[in-house]
Amino acid sequence: MSEHSVPEKSIRAAAAALARGDLVAMPTETVYGLAADATNDSAVKKIFAAKGRPSDHPLIVHVAKDAELSDWIKVLPVDAKKLMDKFWPGPLTLILKKSSRIPDVVTGTQDTVGLRCPNHPIAQALLTEFAKIGSGIVAAPSANKYGHVSPTSARHVRNEFGRAINARKIGGITLLDGGVCEVGIESTIVDFSRGVPVLLRPGAISAEQIFATIGVLPAGRDAATANGAPRVSGDKVAHYAPRTPMRLLAAEQVFAEVDAVLTNGGRVAVLAFSTRPRVKPSAVGVGVRNARQMLWIQAPANATDYARDLYANMRTLDAAGTAAILVETPPTGVAWDAVNDRLRRAAVGTGKL
Ligand code: TXA
Ligand code: MG
Repeated sequence: MSEHSVPEKSIRAAAAALARGDLVAMPTETVYGLAADATNDSAVKKIFAAKGRPSDHPLIVHVAKDAELSDWIKVLPVDAKKLMDKFWPGPLTLILKKSSRIPDVVTGTQDTVGLRCPNHPIAQALLTEFAKIGSGIVAAPSANKYGHVSPTSARHVRNEFGRAINARKIGGITLLDGGVCEVGIESTIVDFSRGVPVLLRPGAISAEQIFATIGVLPAGRDAATANGAPRVSGDKVAHYAPRTPMRLLAAEQVFAEVDAVLTNGGRVAVLAFSTRPRVKPSAVGVGVRNARQMLWIQAPANATDYARDLYANMRTLDAAGTAAILVETPPTGVAWDAVNDRLRRAAVGTGKL
């Protein structure tokens, strides 16, 4: 995490905004969240309105380290407790049976709630301050427009919500700048409301780590999506997606495609493990093949760093304004599960997979 801190008075102002029912964009270790008082119906509705998100998609509720969970959930299964003890604060969301104090608007009328204790000092400071003057819990999806790439820096949040961000204006979104998010992709979600734990969304905390802690490997998401509401909104639609069509290709295909596009005088944006190829001059009359026709980002070779940079890279590639984004498919294997999940969704989201 970059060495960002915000003054105490900014934390107090943001907590006051939450208390009066306004939105706060807060940094977490995963991605920035767009937060509202989870016990205030009209405040939570502002999140759906700002994002353009369908109202049946449940939101994750964020709690401070010392929160009294029995206020918000009916039961805490032993294995869920073990995971909290091991991974909280951290990038892990647990789906549990909710108490009546969590309004239906937060959960899309489901009888469960997703709880997460974020590991970012600014998020923790905000939640602690908000607990002094209000409910202390905030519903917060990622601070992006519905279906778009999640934000991993304050600049990304500004790009998403522009003029709505104004700390002084009552009713605007108060933005706390906590630097660049350390994890970079959304939390792992494990559902404890169905008897056996189910992995609804892969993230930085892997199924193996969960197994090592509770002795049970969480079941796959298929078990969860067989019926009912969209429990994980990414299942239903274009999600985590740039606006430029994105394709996942093997390395050789990336090179071949780049060659073809440049030969035709087109422009292309690439995220690959390989180093940038040298672009040969084109034959006369085939268009100018020069460096500006190609944006080539060389991705980190390990999954943790790749994930941290992924959404920022997607935004950079998108901003290049090319006809296509080509992504070299990462390796398979558990370490890459969360990254591959987000890349597949992004490609589907742009209609190219
Ligand atoms: O890392 C994160 O989790 C980020 C940061 C801001 O904390 N938040 C985040 O929120 O990713 P969002 O709204 O973009 O994703 C929430 C996911 C959705 O896919 C939603 O369906 C699922 O959590 N979810 C929330 N409550 C649920 C519930 N009661 N049952 C099943 N899924 C739930
Ligand atoms: Mg999101």
